[in-house]
Amino acid sequence: MACFSVNGLRLLLLALAATSLFNSETISAQTTKSQTSNALPAQASGQYADNAVCQTCHQELWEKHFATTPHSALLKSNQHGCQSCHGPAQAHVDGGGDVTKIIRFETLSPAQTAAICTTCHQSSLETQNFSKSAHLANGVSCTSCHSPHKSGDVNFMLAKPQTELCFGCHASQKAEFARPYRHRVDVGLVQCSDCHNPHGTQVGHQVRAAAGQFAVCTKCHTDTMGPYVFEHAPVKTDESCLFCHTPHGSTNSRMLQVNNVNFLCLRCHSPNMKPAAGRPIGPSHDQSIKYQACTMCHTQIHGSNFSPIFFR
Ligand code: HEC
Ligand code: HEC
Ligand code: HEC
Ligand code: HEC
Ligand code: HEC
Ligand code: HEC
Ligand code: HEC
Ligand code: HEC
Ligand code: HEC
Ligand code: HEC
Repeated sequence: MACFSVNGLRLLLLALAATSLFNSETISAQTTKSQTSNALPAQASGQYADNAVCQTCHQELWEKHFATTPHSALLKSNQHGCQSCHGPAQAHVDGGGDVTKIIRFETLSPAQTAAICTTCHQSSLETQNFSKSAHLANGVSCTSCHSPHKSGDVNFMLAKPQTELCFGCHASQKAEFARPYRHRVDVGLVQCSDCHNPHGTQVGHQVRAAAGQFAVCTKCHTDTMGPYVFEHAPVKTDESCLFCHTPHGSTNSRMLQVNNVNFLCLRCHSPNMKPAAGRPIGPSHDQSIKYQACTMCHTQIHGSNFSPIFFR
């Protein structure tokens, strides 16, 4: 019994920690309710200083790492410039640069950082799922990937060029992309973000696709999509492409799931099988050597307009 209640307490604490740290929705809701939110640090409230005053002491950062970035747009109209992110900073200025009186991102939780960034970036289709993403849930912050001042990449102010950035945390995927047959992200032919939204999506694995459709693949491989007069049924199902291919890389040619193409086909087909509901037919021909390289003859494996057995 004692053991049970200790575990129960642990779970409760974990749940509490999860809500306070990882639920940016709660945080932004609190922020709008009151300026003195206890979710964001105390520095988030106070008097704004004149925008230009920051330049007097942070001249180099201003000129090299702000005025040249997209965020210089925050100096326009009546926005707060640097203070749009670092919070109202009159107290920091009055204190001669008192660092305890200003928001410092390195002291914030990922959810707090996201709450600040998404005051402006929430509405975009691209970033709107971040609060539910695998990344935020695992402590990955906006600033793990973006650096407003020290970007190492001109695109999207990424901390590092994209492939290097993703590989930095995803070692097993790095290994997959080193296999002989792969999507060549190493030379930029394809990027992780062509298939994934790093800010999260509504479907599993942060894949860019409507649920259950492999639009993520067919947007580039349009020829596999059809419609064909003679469709190959599995290409049209929910799992679709991934029945037969791996998405990242493989030791099998054409990034197939299995080494020999006949084993792939025989996962569903079996020689001389009689047609039955939900079961593919045949082949009626045997499995002698002559027939093993199935796609030597059935070349149009994704579907055909001319041949019911995908010969041309
Ligand atoms: C009177 C000079 C002065 C002015 C004006 C000033 N700062 Fe500072 N600021 C400093 C000093 C000194 C530090 C501490 C040393 C450092 O890290 O550069 C500092 C630190 C900071 C930090 C924390 C750096 C860290 O190490 O994390 C931020 C953020 C910051 N300032 C933003 C601003 C903003 C935004 C403005 C304009 C509203 C501003 N400062 C105006 C002097 C100033
Ligand atoms: C879009 C939000 C944003 C704006 C606008 C912004 N900062 Fe920052 N600032 C950050 C973040 C995030 C960091 C943490 C370091 C990083 O990731 O680049 C940071 C870090 C800093 C630091 C710590 C030193 C460093 O380079 O790490 C200083 C000082 C600073 N900012 C000052 C300023 C000043 C001055 C301005 C206006 C000229 C400004 N910031 C505008 C987000 C912002
Ligand atoms: C006060 C509003 C505001 C805040 C807060 C803010 N941004 Fe921005 N952000 C902008 C504006 C405005 C632009 C430039 C216009 C545009 O490209 O949409 C921009 C541009 C960007 C871009 C480049 C988009 C592109 O197409 O190249 C990135 C990345 C970005 N912000 C990330 C962040 C991150 C990370 C934070 C938090 C540390 C943050 N922003 C906080 C307003 C904001
Ligand atoms: C895991 C890394 C990662 C994290 C975490 C992340 N981003 Fe991004 N972000 C990217 C990449 C990569 C791109 C470029 C996407 C592309 O190529 O289309 C991007 C693009 C953007 C853009 C431009 C999107 C557009 O409209 O085209 C904005 C704005 C942005 N991020 C803001 C944010 C904000 C705000 C956060 C936190 C709430 C955040 N990002 C968290 C990696 C990340
Ligand atoms: C051609 C499209 C495509 C590209 C490019 C791509 N992915 Fe994926 N990735 C997928 C698909 C589809 C899945 C889901 C696999 C599944 O459901 O079994 C996935 C799954 C994942 C997963 C979940 C674990 C796993 O391996 O199943 C991670 C992590 C991942 N990808 C990271 C990356 C990274 C990092 C990059 C860039 C270096 C990248 N992906 C490039 C399509 C892609
Ligand atoms: C700071 C480390 C870090 C960076 C940088 C990073 N990730 Fe992640 N990523 C994680 C963690 C941690 C998880 C959650 C654990 C897991 O599933 O591996 C995750 C999860 C994912 C998932 C979902 C996996 C699943 O099974 O649901 C995908 C897809 C993914 N990341 C892609 C990317 C892409 C693409 C980039 C580059 C734009 C990137 N990541 C950059 C740490 C990172
Ligand atoms: C951004 C465009 C893009 C997307 C999205 C994409 N691919 Fe590709 N794919 C390519 C390119 C380009 C090549 C050729 C690569 C080369 O020549 O190295 C390729 C090659 C392939 C190959 C053939 C490899 C070989 O050995 O000839 C297969 C199989 C494949 N992709 C499957 C998929 C699947 C499955 C998906 C969805 C998970 C997908 N692709 C999504 C661009 C894309
Ligand atoms: C029933 C298994 C199967 C399914 C499902 C499938 N493929 Fe294939 N695909 C193959 C085989 C087998 C090959 C190799 C053909 C050969 O030997 O030339 C191939 C080859 C490819 C190639 C290499 C170029 C070509 O056309 O020969 C691409 C690209 C490709 N598939 C993309 C896709 C995409 C995208 C999907 C999902 C829409 C998909 N495949 C679904 C079995 C399949
Ligand atoms: C994921 C299961 C699956 C895989 C893997 C698969 N098939 Fe199929 N195949 C089917 C289904 C289901 C049908 C439709 C049968 C029907 O219409 O009754 C079909 C139909 C066919 C047909 C047309 C038969 C006809 O007369 O309608 C041919 C030819 C065929 N497949 C060849 C192949 C080859 C060659 C491979 C390997 C590259 C393969 N299939 C892999 C499930 C699969
Ligand atoms: C040498 C060419 C050739 C090869 C290789 C071949 N097939 Fe066939 N396949 C045919 C022909 C021709 C037909 C038409 C029916 C017949 O005459 O037997 C056919 C028909 C089929 C059919 C439709 C059902 C039927 O029997 O009428 C399926 C399913 C099929 N093959 C699957 C496969 C699979 C799986 C492989 C690999 C193990 C394969 N084929 C290898 C030539 C080939």
